[in-house]
Amino acid sequence: MPTSPETGGQLLAAVLDTALDAVVVMRADGTVFGWNQICERLFGWTASEAIGQDLSELIIPERLRQAHKSGLERFLRAGEVGILGRQIETVALRRDGSEIPVELAVMLTGRFQEILFLGFIRDISARMEAATKIANLQAELVHMSRVSAMGAMASTLAHELNQPLAAVTNYLAACEMALDADPPALDRLRELIPAARQNTTRAAHIIRRLRNMTVRSKAARERVDVGEAIEEAAAVALIGPEGTQIRKTITHPPQLMVQFDRMQLQQVLINLIRNAVEAMDGCERKHLRISAYRSGDEVRIDVRDTGRGLSEEERETLFTPFSGTKEEGMGIGLSVSRMIVEAQHGRLWAAANEEGGACFCIAIPTASD
Ligand SMILES: Nc1ncnc2c1ncn2[C@@H]1O[C@H](COP(=O)(O)OP(=O)(O)OP(=O)(O)O)[C@@H](O)[C@H]1O
Ligand SMILES: [Mg+2]
Repeated sequence: MPTSPETGGQLLAAVLDTALDAVVVMRADGTVFGWNQICERLFGWTASEAIGQDLSELIIPERLRQAHKSGLERFLRAGEVGILGRQIETVALRRDGSEIPVELAVMLTGRFQEILFLGFIRDISARMEAATKIANLQAELVHMSRVSAMGAMASTLAHELNQPLAAVTNYLAACEMALDADPPALDRLRELIPAARQNTTRAAHIIRRLRNMTVRSKAARERVDVGEAIEEAAAVALIGPEGTQIRKTITHPPQLMVQFDRMQLQQVLINLIRNAVEAMDGCERKHLRISAYRSGDEVRIDVRDTGRGLSEEERETLFTPFSGTKEEGMGIGLSVSRMIVEAQHGRLWAAANEEGGACFCIAIPTASD
């Protein structure tokens, strides 16, 4: 709609007054030309205070001012569009010095006597707060389920720990005997002491593994060697008497890397392996087969068992929290696992194992590597 400069000015004023977002109009020299009521509320400066002021000093945090100034300069000098026409997330400064997260879109208009920049600014603190809250709750849940899984395994872990400790006690008793001998059997001591030390190291290793699984931490994206993660997870999930009865086959190419949170990937694998072990309880054939491989632009990890398998109906409800069928166990292992995998842009689903039993498949995109 073509307008004369005067009616154009009125139109601009009308648009500013009725806009749902904060709208600021800036001249090419960086000063404020228009400032609507929502800007007044959001930033704390009235229109009459703001107009004519340098915009960057009013609403741009000091550390970002230089970038704003040079962006403007580059546009005026060389026509580089920078953020023009795009929507970005950034932070804005309020009169009281506090900062708020905002969504900003900058448009340009040449309809008036001079070039004007229109900035549409939306306060997204509520959205960011909600997103942070959800992320924190998810992290809590992930942590809780990890602690619960470890709790369920506490007795097997205690058993595992008992073995090296008992060995140390035996070696120390043998040391005493070697010392009491006449003459003291020093050569024997030289053998016994390193053997005892090896076992204390083994106990420390078990404790470290346990502690690593239960520390609370934010999800990180790091380069993880999938094969190593599987071996570690299987080592934790298969300790104890049930684990030793299971035939395990792990296949993966060397150096199969993904971007993931290492601890969370292990948690997912431990959940799946524990489920597989539990599903094979009482079955004659107990074969756990874990294979990791590249498939297109994804890395796949399939965890197969020869347990009781899954009915069609079960496959639907499996990932719903608290839908578990076990007396012990909270029924959250799979839902938490899926949440973890999806939060890192992957997928987790259940299928049937051709050999009988179930197969749980993880797909992790490698595109962002
Ligand atoms: N490999 C499997 N074979 C057969 N059924 C399975 C398998 N894995 C999971 N299930 C079924 O899915 C249900 C949900 O599993 P999920 O891991 O979420 O909970 P859970 O194992 O019952 O408890 P926990 O919270 O301790 O993991 C299980 O109770 C079981 O009935
Ligand atoms: Mg489970």
